[in-house]
This record gives sequence, C-alpha cells and structure tokens, in this order.
Amino acid sequence: MTSSMEASFFLVFLLTFCSSIYSIFSATTTDSITTNQSIVDGETIVSSDGTFELGFFSPSGSSNRYIGIWYKQILPYVQTVVWVANREKPLTNTSSVQLKINVPGILALLNEKNESIWSTNTSRSVQNPVAVLLDSGNLVVKDANDKNPEDFLWQSFHFPTDTHLPDMKLGKNFKTGYEIYLSAWKNDNDPAPGEFTRTIDPTGYPQALTKSGTNVLYRIGPWNGLRWSGAPTPLLTQSRLYTLQFIFNKDELYYIFSLINNSSVLSRFVLSSNGDIQRFMWVDQTKRWNVHYKLPTDTCDTYSLCGVYGSCDIYSEPICGCLEKFVPKYPQQWEKGDWTEGCVRRKPLDCSKEHVFLRYSGIKLPDTKHTRYNKTMTLDECRQVCSRNCSCTAYSSLDISNGDKGCLLWYGELIDIRKLPERGQDIFIKMDSSEQESEVGSTRKKAKILTVSFSLLMATILLILILLWYKRKKKKLKLSEDIELPLFPFSTITRATNNFSFNNKIGEGGFGPVYKGVLEEGQEIAVKRLSRTSMQGLDEYKNEVIYIAKLQHRNLVRLLGCCIQGEEKMLIYEYMPNKSLDSYIFGLDF
Ligand SMILES: *[C@@H]1O[C@H](CO)[C@@H](O)[C@H](O)[C@H]1NC(C)=O
Ligand SMILES: *[C@@H]1O[C@H](CO)[C@@H](O)[C@H](O)[C@H]1NC(C)=O
Ligand SMILES: *[C@@H]1O[C@H](CO)[C@@H](O)[C@H](O)[C@H]1NC(C)=O
Ligand SMILES: *[C@@H]1O[C@H](CO)[C@@H](O)[C@H](O)[C@H]1NC(C)=O
Ligand SMILES: *[C@@H]1O[C@H](CO)[C@@H](O)[C@H](O)[C@H]1NC(C)=O
Ligand SMILES: *[C@@H]1O[C@H](CO)[C@@H](O)[C@H](O)[C@H]1NC(C)=O
Ligand SMILES: *[C@@H]1O[C@H](CO)[C@@H](O)[C@H](O)[C@H]1NC(C)=O
Ligand SMILES: *[C@@H]1O[C@H](CO)[C@@H](O)[C@H](O)[C@H]1NC(C)=O
Repeated sequence: MTSSMEASFFLVFLLTFCSSIYSIFSATTTDSITTNQSIVDGETIVSSDGTFELGFFSPSGSSNRYIGIWYKQILPYVQTVVWVANREKPLTNTSSVQLKINVPGILALLNEKNESIWSTNTSRSVQNPVAVLLDSGNLVVKDANDKNPEDFLWQSFHFPTDTHLPDMKLGKNFKTGYEIYLSAWKNDNDPAPGEFTRTIDPTGYPQALTKSGTNVLYRIGPWNGLRWSGAPTPLLTQSRLYTLQFIFNKDELYYIFSLINNSSVLSRFVLSSNGDIQRFMWVDQTKRWNVHYKLPTDTCDTYSLCGVYGSCDIYSEPICGCLEKFVPKYPQQWEKGDWTEGCVRRKPLDCSKEHVFLRYSGIKLPDTKHTRYNKTMTLDECRQVCSRNCSCTAYSSLDISNGDKGCLLWYGELIDIRKLPERGQDIFIKMDSSEQESEVGSTRKKAKILTVSFSLLMATILLILILLWYKRKKKKLKLSEDIELPLFPFSTITRATNNFSFNNKIGEGGFGPVYKGVLEEGQEIAVKRLSRTSMQGLDEYKNEVIYIAKLQHRNLVRLLGCCIQGEEKMLIYEYMPNKSLDSYIFGLDF
C-alpha cells in the first residue's frame, strides 16, 4: 500500500517535472529570428510543427562551423542536413558569432568584428523584418505581419544546396531569369559547392541534367506528361507517397514533388558529392534512410555513351549498338569498343530527295538541347513541319499522358538514346525513302498485317489466273493433238438465236435446223443444231468436226466453234449473207 502510494507520488512528481522542463523548453523554442533576438552557436530555431531545426553544426569529420537546417525529429539517430547557409565560408571560432536580422530585412551571420560572413539579400525593405523557419524546411525573411508567400524578401528554397525537399521548385523563372538548381557538396566533410550540379535545363525542350562543370554526366530525358522519358521504374507511376509535377509556361519552368501526407513521411532527393542522385525515405522502424531509387540507373545512363544514333541496351553485349538501319561511322573503332563517333545512316539522307519517317519504339528520347516544340500541334502536323525543314531529323509526341499531344522536333544528330522496352517512347526519324515506310522496333503487328494482306492478294491473283486458264481451257474442245475448237456456252447460243426462235430459223438440213443469230459483240452467226434423233455419239460428232475443221480452208464458210449441252450438239459458223443456205446445210455436212 505505502510502496504503491510512494510510486504514485513519484510518478506525479516525475510528470510535473517533465512537463515543466517541457514548458521551459518549448517557451524558449521559437521558429523565428526577430530584430531583438539573434542566434549564437548552441541556440536553434525549430519549425512550428517540429520537423526542421536551424542552427550551427559541423559536418562529420570536420570542426568547421556552419549554419544549417536539419530534421529535428530524427536528430537522436542521425543529423541529416538539408541546407547550408555559409557553405563557402566556414567558421573556425564561433565564440562571438551571431545570426542576426536587421531592419531593412537582411539576415546576416556576423563575426566578433561585426563583419558579415554570410547574408541574405533583398530588393525591398520592411519595418518589422523576421526570419521564420517554415514547416516545409524553407527559411524565409519577411515582414512579421505579412503572410503572403509572394511577399517573401528572401527564401532558402531559392538557394538550395544539395537537397531537393518536398514543395521546393527546381527550375527557372523566365521573368527574372533566375535559375534554381542543386549543387552537390565537395565531399561528405565539406558543404562547399562541388563539381556536380543538377538543373532543369531550359535549352530546347526542358530536361533534367546532371552536370560536372559544363559537361553533361547523365540525363533522364524530357518530361513526357507522365514522367521523365528515361526515368527509372519507381517513377513510372506516381508513388503512393508523393506526386511529381512539371510546370512549363512562358513565365516559369519548374519541377516539384509533394508528399501526399506531410505528417507521416520524410522524403528528400539528394545530389551526392559523387554525382549520384538518390531519393531517400525515412523508415521509422529501422531509424534509417532507405534509398528509393538512384541515378544513374546503370552504365547506359552515361551521357552519349554510344555516340550519335547509337543506342544503349543494358541487356546486350556489347551494350552499344546502332539504331536499326544505321551503321557504325568507323567500324574498326566501333569493333574495339570505342563508340564515341557513333553511327550513320546506311543509306545517306539527301534532303533534295524523297524521304520517309521511320518509327523507333521503346527508347529514351534523345537529348532535347537542339529541339523545338509546339504544345498544340498534332503528330501529323509535326511530321509535316519536320518534313519541310532540311535540318529537322526527327519528331515525336510531346505529351503522352492522354494519347499523343504536341510536337517535339529535333534538329541535327540524335544523341544519348537508350533502349527502354517497357517504358520507352516512339520517335520518328527521317530516313531515305528507299528504307521503306516499314516500321522499326516493336511494330511487328503492322508488318504482320502487311504480310497477311500481301499473301491474300497473291492467293486471289493466283485463283483468278487458274479460273481464267480453266475457263480458257474449257472454252476449247480438244479434238486431236493439233486441233482445238472454241467451245461456246449454251446460254450464249440461246441468247444469240433468241432461244432458237422460229423467226431465226433460216433452213433445215438432213442433220437438223440452221438458225441465224447475233453474238453480244455484234457478230452474226449461223448455228447448225444437230438433231437429237441423229443419235450421233460424241466421238462421231468429234470426228465430224475434225473433218470440217480440216477442210475449212477449202470452204467458203468459216467454222467458229461448237457447243455441247447434254445431248444437244451444235456447230457455229460465221454468217455470210451472200452464201446460199446450202453451204451451211449441205456444204458442211458432207
Ligand atoms: C522583440 O521585438 C518585438 C517587435 O519586433 C516585440 O514585439 C517583442 O516584445 C520583443 N521581444 C523582446 C523579448 O524584447
Ligand atoms: C575564439 O575567439 C575568441 C575571441 O573572439 C577568443 O577569445 C578564443 O580564444 C578563440 N578560440 C579559439 C579556439 O581560437
Ligand atoms: C554592429 O553594427 C550595428 C549596425 O550595423 C550596430 O548597431 C552595432 O552596435 C554593432 N555592434 C558592434 C559590436 O560593433
Ligand atoms: C540576391 O543574390 C542573388 C545571387 O547572389 C541574385 O541572383 C539575386 O538577384 C539577388 N536578389 C536580390 C533581390 O537582390
Ligand atoms: C504539406 O506541406 C506543404 C508545405 O508545408 C503544404 O503546402 C501542403 O499543403 C501540405 N500538404 C498536406 C496534404 O498537408
Ligand atoms: C497521415 O499520416 C498520419 C500519421 O501516420 C496518419 O495519422 C494520418 O491518418 C495520415 N493522413 C492521411 C490523409 O493519410
Ligand atoms: C503551334 O502550332 C499551331 C498550329 O500549327 C500554331 O497555330 C501555333 O502558333 C503554334 N505555336 C507556337 C508557339 O509556335
Ligand atoms: C529549319 O529550322 C531551323 C531551326 O529551327 C531554322 O533555323 C531554319 O531557318 C529552318 N529552315 C527553313 C528552311 O525553314
């Protein structure tokens, strides 16, 4: 009983003590620096939701002091610095150094001689300036009573170091010409700007570039409405944790990512001092940062590895190849694995001659530095524009988020292409017309359709030929090796003779009646209808016809052919008005 009461007392005491400590602590914790309240080494300010903290720090392995911003919540596990103020001017002795804001609105780091080591700048002055660390990790200088972000005098999000935080814009303001980009630390111990930068380059159609000085190290292609054209898989669909946005209009160009739930996730995107880019997510369970993805993804991301018109395929050996219908410019160098000179069209393109556009599918779009674009044109208009200009080499759709929209035109040689079978896009490359309008890459479907229709066409033609041949054959009665007599269809004869009408009858001989008729072509004929009663068999009939045919040259009446329909057998002669009926009836009967 007593021990439990003692325990309770202790607990109450402990709680009171803790909360009073907490209240003292929170009373001194502020998110802002005012004119009458500067910061010295050891003091910090904390964003209102407690996520970020600003103060003095030393990078690991260094005794230099810097002003920086880090995550407060995870500080017990790791100090993750997301921004550094005086990155180029480290302090070795901070004993009389202070971070102070003064009346026009400038936040400055002052040494013991009251000299400014680092400071913000402003184009305006305000009466009551204040520096506030926002929940987003953005340190802003503003008028104390002004909450409008448009009126900020200065903000750290416009001067990022190596870290892209949620809701931070990376890109360019076209009205002011001001560019916001990441710049890596020199090394893990030195936050001074190193050689690597990460920009959203507005030259041509904008694309994200990682550069070493002025040299491009790698790029992940232009934004295609959904993602960067050559983005690694985790970027394919928008993550459940964050959304990506690319804004590009006449006023500004920027790329931004936003967390779907600010309170549950810590995420940052960092350009490391070795040039790699990593997206980190904090894992509460393990108290560690997890890498969600890393760029470059693999060797194929190396800028221009395979040269112009070369295509990198990480699953092939060697990884560099030429695009289809292209050949190495210098085959011997290429064989040795020196791909720098790239490839050329196997059929050179002559602008004054006919050309076609071939579709290359499943690729990361080439460098867009020398491109032009139009957001409203259709793909067809795009092709026409490219077709009209000699220096235009290729085109593609600008935005694939909702079907094909817009037009992207390349001028000059195409460089930095890689195969991305599942995520890649289509590009249409100008080629000599002898390379056919056949499509390259994954469009075997069309080729299949073409093959099938071609086969069908051939089959139809063959069938028609057979029928014609058969018909021709059928139209002839083979009487002997050397004599063939045209065979008339019975229907033709009935039509010609008006169905053997009495009016057409011109006489009757021993073997049957003779009719006059007119063929459809207008030729007049005489038809000798052998009487059924003559009981002549086919062989006798044949013999008779052979006989007639052999004697024909002696005869004055020409035999045109014959007609057999069941038991009916007929002989067809050219009708000669001047000849006596006897010529038909008797002269040929023999
Ligand atoms: C600091 O200055 C502000 C006005 O800028 C004033 O409201 C505040 O009371 C001052 N605080 C102290 C502790 O003097
Ligand atoms: C730092 O500077 C103060 C005076 O500004 C001086 O007294 C102190 O010795 C210095 N400390 C070191 C370690 O140099
Ligand atoms: C530092 O400069 C400010 C004005 O810029 C002045 O008000 C202040 O007294 C100076 N402090 C010292 C220690 O010289
Ligand atoms: C502040 O300085 C940066 C670079 O030093 C400059 O680009 C920017 O225009 C300046 N801003 C103002 C308001 O002077
Ligand atoms: C997340 O934080 C940013 C900046 O602090 C804010 O603009 C945004 O509205 C927040 N989003 C949510 C879903 O709370
Ligand atoms: C955001 O995360 C917090 C903490 O994990 C959770 O309590 C809250 O429900 C989440 N909100 C949404 C909208 O998902
Ligand atoms: C884009 O193309 C359309 C249609 O051809 C044209 O009207 C428009 O002016 C073009 N826009 C630009 C910015 O060139
Ligand atoms: C072709 O396009 C280039 C680049 O846009 C341009 O400089 C050139 O004037 C165009 N040529 C013609 C004939 O339109």
